Amino acid sequence: QQVRLAELAARHAIAEEGGGLERRTRETKAGKLSARERVDLLLDEGTFEETDKFVTHRATDFGMDAQRVPGDGFITGHGRIDGRVVFVFAQDFTVFGGSLSETNAAKIVKIMDMAMKVGAPVIGLNDSGGARIQEGVLSLAGYTDIFLRNTLASGVVPQISAILGPCAGGAVYSPAITDFTLMTEKTSYMFVTGPDVIKTVLHEDVTKDALGGAHTHNEISGVAHFMAHDDRECLAMIRELVGFMPSNNLDDPPRRATSDDPARADAALDTIIPEESNQPYDMVDVIARIVDEGYLFQVQEHFARNLVVGFARMHGRPVGVVANQPAVLAGVLDIDASVKGARFVRFCDAFNIPLITFEDVPGFMPGTRQEHGGIIRHGAKLLYAFAEATVPKLTVITRKAYGGAYCVMSSKNLRTDVNLAWPTAEIAVMGPEGAVNIVYKRELDAVVRRAQAVMPQGVSLSEEQKLEVLAEARNEKVEEFRERFANPYVAAERGYVDAVIRPSETRRRLNTALDMLATKREKNPPKKHGNIPL
Ligand code: COA
Repeated sequence: QQVRLAELAARHAIAEEGGGLERRTRETKAGKLSARERVDLLLDEGTFEETDKFVTHRATDFGMDAQRVPGDGFITGHGRIDGRVVFVFAQDFTVFGGSLSETNAAKIVKIMDMAMKVGAPVIGLNDSGGARIQEGVLSLAGYTDIFLRNTLASGVVPQISAILGPCAGGAVYSPAITDFTLMTEKTSYMFVTGPDVIKTVLHEDVTKDALGGAHTHNEISGVAHFMAHDDRECLAMIRELVGFMPSNNLDDPPRRATSDDPARADAALDTIIPEESNQPYDMVDVIARIVDEGYLFQVQEHFARNLVVGFARMHGRPVGVVANQPAVLAGVLDIDASVKGARFVRFCDAFNIPLITFEDVPGFMPGTRQEHGGIIRHGAKLLYAFAEATVPKLTVITRKAYGGAYCVMSSKNLRTDVNLAWPTAEIAVMGPEGAVNIVYKRELDAVVRRAQAVMPQGVSLSEEQKLEVLAEARNEKVEEFRERFANPYVAAERGYVDAVIRPSETRRRLNTALDMLATKREKNPPKKHGNIPL
């Protein structure tokens, strides 16, 4: 019996060694934790139950039969985060560069299938050179098995991908399908084709980091949702993220105790909107004054900063916040912001997380770059996402709600449950200046002609005088227009906003609405699936 126990211990020790000390040291020097350290840090202490620790690959070509490491470079299993079950896999770069084989792909498939059965999130800690080259199509088929499961699990259990090293080639498509991707600064990169291929095909020089590092994917491409300084911070962020979501689409997100009074008033909100409607202010500051403990966990914080999305809590309940940011590009909606918002709204809707929209939007971004880039198609995503969402939906219009962007930003007619407006709200087809230029164009031209007509014979108005006359007439009309439309009361008279409220009481009003909506039931017509414009 002792001998058998000793053999078991020895086998465990070999498996835990991974690719050996030398390779491990190289990784440590690069600032990376080992796959096992990562799993331990991610999960509640002592909760990890490993599966398939002794699985080995079956390849024999290229001398592979002489190189077998128990576990085959992937650590898989389940454990708990804040007491709730999660499934996890971690790739060990020291074993064949963390590459994916037929057999370690099957390990991932096994935990994903179990996660679907029990309804628990799947977290992938990626650090891999991609498909195991020695295994050829077997490895590619393994990837495809995972992609299929990522797709089938989408909207059923939350899926989170951390990129903690390389993630190249086909490997990128698993994280891409999952709900959230986190990347570490300096140590992680993602690309479909690397710098060498780019050099050969396009004669372009680019570094791995510039091509697909954490900054690139968080700021430019929008592929990543979070950026962490290092492994530790990244793992802590995953734990926090999981805390906002239910374990699956049939559960409610976990409610947390809070000492923040649900009816807390914040007097500063009554004066937070600047006097001039073209002055910026920080919408994150507004949100912080309303949500529990002033805390917003932003998603894609560094991408399309003209739209803020993220998780917060209201009286302990997780909510998804979508907000125009007047401090960046005046809060205009462009392609990136629309796609960012749409994906977030759909996540929240899939996982029963109520949506709160804070609106101050001057419209969609004009210009050929946006039009040629497909703002019509991309803007439609956000509209579609809000329209199909059946979770409790609440909107607060703080200032501008103009034109098509008004319709898109969870307006009443998109089945939004509670629409509130501050007295500073301006709900109109466009801003007063733009509106006057179009509606009163003829009238303003006529004003100039009349001014010319009263001039003595042979004397004509100088360009300066013309502009002066025009400006005076325009200002009058702009004021008239502002009085008539740049307020929330026309919308309130028609019921397109349910109430015009004092800004200081926003938190109470939203919490009361969320309580009222706790039992909301709404269904979309039965269909195979919708056809969101992609
Ligand atoms: N299949 C099998 N082994 C792989 C591998 C793969 N896809 N990628 C890396 N490895 C192995 C290397 O052979 C090396 O083994 P060794 O420790 O026995 O020498 C080890 O992993 C580390 O790789 P190395 O190239 O030394 O590390 P690096 O940090 O310099 O570079 C990569 C990392 C990922 C950029 C590089 O390994 C690479 O380009 N891999 C191939 C990527 C790819 O195109 N994959 C196919 C995608 S579908």
